[in-house]
Parts: sequence; structure tokens; C-alpha cells
Amino acid sequence: MASPRARQDRLDASLFEDALHAPDRIAFVVEQAADRDHEFNVALPVEAPPACALKRIDLLETGFPEAQHMRGKVEARRDLADRAHRFIALARHLIPRLKPRYSNIRSGAVFSQIGPTRQRRPLGVDKRGPHPLTGRRHPPPNPRRLMEDWLHFPQPVPAIRHHATEANARAVRNWLWIVAGLVFLMVIVGGATRLTESGLSIVQWKPVTGVLPPLSQQEWQEAFEAYKQIPQYRELFPDMDVAGFKYIYAWEWAHRLLGRVIGVVFAVPLIWFWATGRLPRSAKPKLVGILALGALQGGVGWWMVASGLVNRIEVAQERLAIHLLLAALIFSACLWVAGGLGPRAVSLVHGGAGRLKAVALTILAFVFLQIFVGGLVAGLRAGLVNNTWPLMDGVFIPPADVLWRLEPFWTNLVDNPVTVQFFHRMIAYLIFALALGHLLDAWMNAEGRARRGAMILFGHVLMQIALGVATLVLVEPPFAGDPHLALALAHQAIGMAVLGVATLQARRLVQDVITN
Ligand code: HEM
Repeated sequence: MASPRARQDRLDASLFEDALHAPDRIAFVVEQAADRDHEFNVALPVEAPPACALKRIDLLETGFPEAQHMRGKVEARRDLADRAHRFIALARHLIPRLKPRYSNIRSGAVFSQIGPTRQRRPLGVDKRGPHPLTGRRHPPPNPRRLMEDWLHFPQPVPAIRHHATEANARAVRNWLWIVAGLVFLMVIVGGATRLTESGLSIVQWKPVTGVLPPLSQQEWQEAFEAYKQIPQYRELFPDMDVAGFKYIYAWEWAHRLLGRVIGVVFAVPLIWFWATGRLPRSAKPKLVGILALGALQGGVGWWMVASGLVNRIEVAQERLAIHLLLAALIFSACLWVAGGLGPRAVSLVHGGAGRLKAVALTILAFVFLQIFVGGLVAGLRAGLVNNTWPLMDGVFIPPADVLWRLEPFWTNLVDNPVTVQFFHRMIAYLIFALALGHLLDAWMNAEGRARRGAMILFGHVLMQIALGVATLVLVEPPFAGDPHLALALAHQAIGMAVLGVATLQARRLVQDVITN
């Protein structure tokens, strides 16, 4: 394989004639246009007007893995946005022409445009000979020195963000946002299905033919008869008639239908994006992973429903919690992958970047745990005991013989309503403390989205705790019934919103930070 230097030497000057004829005759470097196998630098000096002080261009927006290690090295002077814009247009024009020669260049690979503001350092010339276009001799560029020269600004200018965006990555990102939105909706419909006691109304699992609800009176009667066979009907709703059955059936049917819709909305565009080569390589395994989680979720859903059909009158709470956790994972994974694609704004962090990142990831982990425990609270109806706050039965920490009443002791963590509710409260306080600490940290040490994200996260956590307390406390008349259902649903929805915000914040701090 030719060495990078050799490839650089072989560069055909005609490829760059457009650059020469560009109005500003901008100098640029195509830097590290690499895939995993090899990388090379191409440097081409073209006379640039002295005012062209554009320092770096943001290519982390591409979503390609090879671009990501350039993250944070990309900024431009705001007043020169217009030049940046023109440079990018030029670069985009040149890339397809470079492609046949260097098949590893993909549009959106890493670029840096370097404007020689001071003529003392013309850029990118091989010291072994005069440049083929200008005939001038120059020393080779010193990449480290160049980087040090670059100016730091918290965010790339909007013009750059707009024009450097890889259109395909943007389309993939938007699609994932839509999937995440549908998963969010799915969680709400799932919650309503549970709260209206509808979840066991369809006692079969027919992935394909189940799309159609009963259509004739006779089919409704048959479905109702099947429901009458399970313990829930006999013990909870012995007086139910067909009209009541249709109501609970509708919720469960809508929940399952939405599940199928999400499957199609995910799988069909995935195949299309893949087949047409529009997927960034780094995103492929992640998307396949999400697809697998989705398939697993369908199975877990039925595993959960099956637990409520024979000996119990409701589904097993741990299966409900796993079902909810898996939904949360899918939702969060969609947002994480989407956030890494398309236009991305970097945040400047002055210090403690590692700590900010670690805390954001810890918050995310605890939010997952809290959602799981929340599922247990809901499945056990643990919100119907100890309806006071902040004390539980007059104390902050219930006595050990209440918390660890069941044998063996660990079963209390899933079967004892008091213990489960207690842990749900404690984890909420922990998340509150972490989110507050993160906010203060980001306030002092970060700028841009990292700081705003910490504020938004804290606001969501606060709102969620308030809703949780309201859901717990307002179960007595006159609040029993519908208002409680609305509160519980709002608590579930904001719980997912907390997860979404925590995911975006963690991803941002992991991937989109520049330190100075
Ligand atoms: C960051 C904080 C919190 C998060 C992320 C969270 C999340 C959740 C989730 C996901 C559920 C399951 C909802 C469902 O399946 O219907 C849930 C249920 C519940 N949570 Fe929280 N929660 C938080 C704080 C709290 C607090 C502080 C309380 C009360 C002191 C609370 C009380 C409840 C109750 C009573 C339920 C059961 C509601 C039902 O029966 O539908 N939560 N929580």
C-alpha cells in the first residue's frame, strides 16, 4: 500500500483547480481523511487573502467514527462565517472528485481549512520539492503547532454547522428521533393499559393476525369468553359485560398495534438506509442492537402477560418492571445514537470534564434503576400503602422488621411493597442530589449546551419528584380515580422525559466537549 506521503505526492493538481479559481483562493488541508485501514494527509497551499483567518471546521458533525477523533479541534471566527461557508461548499464539491482516487474518502470526512493569516507559515507543502501548482518551496506544516494556533470558541458558527452537515446522517438522526417519540408514546399507552387494568384482555399472542381486532359480534363474544377463563375476570371483574370488555380490549390492542407500528417504522427505514449506503458505519452495530432489543421486547411483553393468565389476577411485577426497563433502554439508545449524528454543537468545559462526564453517566444509570424500581412500585401497587410524604408511617426509614419482613431477605426488594416504595424514594433523593451537584459543577465549569443540559436535567428531576409525591399522596378521596390515573401517567411520562434528558446530557459530555 502506498505510504501517505506517496499518496500525497501523487495528488493530481488538476483535482484542485476549483480551489485555485475560487474567489478567495483559499488554502486548505484535507486532513486525516481516513478509514480504519489507513490515513493520509493532503496539503495544498493556495494563496489566501490575509484576512482569511478561519481556523478549523467542524466535521464532528458527520457522525463518521473517523471524524470523531477530530472533535473539539474545530472552530472558526464568527465574523468569518461567510468564508467558512464558502470553503465548505468548495470542499463538498471536491470530495466526489477525490473519491475515485482515494476510495476511503467519504463525503464528510475530516477537513480542516487553514487560512494562512500571516504569510510566515504557508501550509502543507512537502519540503522535498516545490509545489506543483505554485512552484514555491515551503517547510512542511507542523500539525501540533497549527492546532495550538487555532482559536477557541465554544461553538462552531451556525453557517458551518449548517453547511458541514452530512445530509444522510441528519436523515438517520431524524428517523431515530421519530422512533424515540413513538417509543415514548408506547410507554404512555402501556401505562394507561396497566392503570385501566386492560393488559390481560387479549389472552393470545398472534404477532401477525392479531393486527385485526374482533370484527363481528360473534368474534367479540369469543374473545370475551376467552377472557372469562382467566382468574382476573373471575376475581376482579365478574360483573363485566361486552361493552366493558371492549373498552379494556381497546387499550391492550392499541398497545400491541403501536408495538407493531414501531417495529415497521424502525425496520423498514433501517433496511433502506442500509441498502442505499446511507448509514454511518459506526451506527450500524448500534442500530442492529436496538432492533434486537425491540424484538426481545415483544417476547418479554408476552412473557409478562402470560404471568397474569393462570394463577394470578395481575402480571408479575418483576416482569412488568423488566418490560418497562427494556422500553427505557430502547428509548435511551435511540436518543443516544441520534444525538451523535448530524449537526452537533460542542460545549466548552474549563475544568473537571472527567467528573462532569462521570456524574452524568452515574445519573443516567440511577435513572434506569429508578425506572425499574418504579415499575415494581406500579406492579405491586406499592403506591397504595404509606401514602404520606416525607415520612412513611411516621418515620423516615421504616424499621428493619418491616423492610425485611419476607424471607429470604432479598425477596423484599421485589415483593415487599414497603421496601420497594422506600427504595423508590431513596433513589429519587440520590438522583436529586446528583443532579443538583451536576448543575452546580456545570454552572461553574461548563458553557453552552453542557451547562444548559444540566439545568434542564435538574428541572426535570425536580418536576418528577413533585409528581411522584403527588401521585403517592393524592390517592385518597376526593382524588381517587381519574385524577390519580392522570397523575400516575404524568409521572410515567416525565420519568421517560428525565431519562431522555439524562441520556442526551451524558452523551453530550462523553462526545461533544472541548476542554481548554
Ligand atoms: C427521579 C425520580 C423518579 C423517577 C425517574 C420515577 C420513575 C417512576 C416510574 C418509571 C414509575 C413507573 C410508572 C408506571 O409503570 O406506571 C414510577 C412509579 C411510581 N412512582 Fe416514581 N419516580 C421518581 C420519583 C418518585 C418519588 C419521589 C415518589 C414519591 C415519593 C414516586 C412515587 C411513585 C409511585 C407512587 C409510583 C406508582 C404509580 C402507579 O401506580 O402508577 N416516584 N416512578
